[in-house]
Amino acid sequence: MIKPETIDKIFDAARIEEVVGDFVTLKRRGVNMLGLCPFHNEKTPSFTVSPAKGIFKCFGCGKGGNAVNFIMEHEHFSYPEALKYLAQKYSIEVDEEKPSPEQQEAMDEKESLFNLTAFAQKHFEDTLHNTEEGKSVGLTYFKERGFTTDIIKKFGLGYSLNTWDDFTSKALKHGYKKDLLEKSSLVRTRDHQTYDAFRGRVTFPIHNLSGRVLGFGARILTQDKKKPKYINTAESEIYHKSKVLYGLFFAKSAIVREDNCYLTEGYTDVISMHQAGIENVIASSGTSLTTDQIKLIRRYTQNITLLFDGDPAGIKAAFRGVDMILEEGMNVKIVLFPDGEDPDSYARNFRPAEVKAFITENAKDFISFKTHLLLEETQNDPIKKAGLIKEIALSISRIPEPIARSLYVQKSSDLLQIDENLLMAEVNKQRRIKSKDQAQQPTAQEEESWAVTKTPLEEASVKKGISLRHQEYEIIRTLLLYHSQVMIFDEKDEEGHDVRFEINVADYLINEITNDDLRFETEMYQHVFDEIKSAREQEKMLDEQYFFTHHNPDVSKMAIDMLTSPYTLSNQWEDKHKIYVKKEEDNVKMNVIEILYAFKLKKLEKIIYENRQMLKQEMEPETMLEKMEFLRNMESIKTMLAKELSRIIIQ
Ligand code: UTP
Ligand code: MN
Repeated sequence: MIKPETIDKIFDAARIEEVVGDFVTLKRRGVNMLGLCPFHNEKTPSFTVSPAKGIFKCFGCGKGGNAVNFIMEHEHFSYPEALKYLAQKYSIEVDEEKPSPEQQEAMDEKESLFNLTAFAQKHFEDTLHNTEEGKSVGLTYFKERGFTTDIIKKFGLGYSLNTWDDFTSKALKHGYKKDLLEKSSLVRTRDHQTYDAFRGRVTFPIHNLSGRVLGFGARILTQDKKKPKYINTAESEIYHKSKVLYGLFFAKSAIVREDNCYLTEGYTDVISMHQAGIENVIASSGTSLTTDQIKLIRRYTQNITLLFDGDPAGIKAAFRGVDMILEEGMNVKIVLFPDGEDPDSYARNFRPAEVKAFITENAKDFISFKTHLLLEETQNDPIKKAGLIKEIALSISRIPEPIARSLYVQKSSDLLQIDENLLMAEVNKQRRIKSKDQAQQPTAQEEESWAVTKTPLEEASVKKGISLRHQEYEIIRTLLLYHSQVMIFDEKDEEGHDVRFEINVADYLINEITNDDLRFETEMYQHVFDEIKSAREQEKMLDEQYFFTHHNPDVSKMAIDMLTSPYTLSNQWEDKHKIYVKKEEDNVKMNVIEILYAFKLKKLEKIIYENRQMLKQEMEPETMLEKMEFLRNMESIKTMLAKELSRIIIQ
């Protein structure tokens, strides 16, 4: 358990724009900041961050919350995990009441691994710059590759001494447990001997989106063909290679700016391109491209350009990549480098302007790419040409959007000089084959959702059952939004004198609801109501900011949902919807009363309905009479309430 004082500190320190900014590129728009929503796919930004209120809200998918909600949602963290993440980011010490040993272990493992990789990164970097061997072997190698000191520092490159346990012994001395060292795969064990995994290699740290080191690639410097050229960190609690893209941390803002992402094959490609001034570059190193990686790119842009080696392996990889990207509904272009060159070597052999020119001149859309590549060898060979058509149809069939599909069909039928309808038929055939492959047994989740499907009879009874959700929502929203607004009542006292009394919205609603002994059906609403009530008993007023940073993440999310609209977050007063909000404010008294009475009437309706249902059952005549009497009472109160409501409104 994290202490409430510490939670307060974390909330105070966390700047929403910084927390979100680690994952989403934000641009200033008036008082707010705007970016592409990380929770759903969108092309035009509707994800709004309000630094003043400390909240985010997506007007596309509706997600909203404070900094803690954001981290929970985005990183799939639990509440304490999210708090600790923020504490770490803002160097706040978390003094916890003791968690159970098992809890501790699970939570600590990830964090310890992060600590260890950060320690390793510093160690290797220090070795590179400040030891004789580091300088003469590692640094010399990087310099020979043409890397500048600036770029070496920017990417945190390092060197691991060619001794058995330089790193292992330092890490142990530093208090890292052997067990953890093995989990990180920085250290290996054979015959009870632990030794460094990266001996005599230069190291490339791999960062996550917020810049923390997850793992490494380590390149050999000798010509030893028996040893692997690169060793990469193995899968761990923190490093899932299929979900990581090398260089994305450094590239993300350039990707947004250029609205395009260059995808290369490795560490050296990314670094050399950066050095040539092209910064929207990443690599899927250590693995072939995965769907998770493509989805990661989609947060920043819809456009991917593959920069691959023109050798057969590169072409094969490009073919695969193209289809996967199309399947995600994104746009893809391909640049093949002359055989034997890759982006890294090209960026070293040519000037930055030449690299840029080469890429723009040689970027082909996937149809031209496939056609040009295959057309030469298929000329005058009908069988091969048929194979090519199939190949193209296969790619087009992967595009989810029908209009895009038909545009591509048009274009490629021109290029291939075949009938458009014929090609479309082939595309549709491929789609049918694919959907057959994918038609699977229903998942457990689907089965479950069928199981809860209601029969028509059940459906009807649910409809009749009376829900107060909407009225309760309105009461709580009014309490949060207008709590301190003053309502003025002009009445007559017993002697017929005009008297005026004033009461704020919070006190008015609390009195009314408490006097009638009404409770909320939705647990969270009752909770919020009780909280406001006990604050009022101490003459305190809880404002929207209190709820935005509420220690219960469900409450903060609810408050932000209730109190944000594009208009409450915008600062454009002339906006017509803003005027609507303004109107609501002017009529606060009327609104509050209407909402309260609607709540009370609905409550009564429900009580009446439930008692009528009960009357249908068999019961003692006496009980029945009692119930009927009770019902009559309720009905007359209902009529009274309705009259009262119309009196107040007409007044
Ligand atoms: P290269 O073989 O071109 O690596 O692979 P390099 O370091 O640039 O070597 P030279 O100087 O051209 O001979 C390109 C990228 O592929 C990844 C690395 O990210 C590398 O930067 N790669 C390569 C691996 O992950 N593992 C390997 O075994 C080889
Ligand atoms: Mn290379």
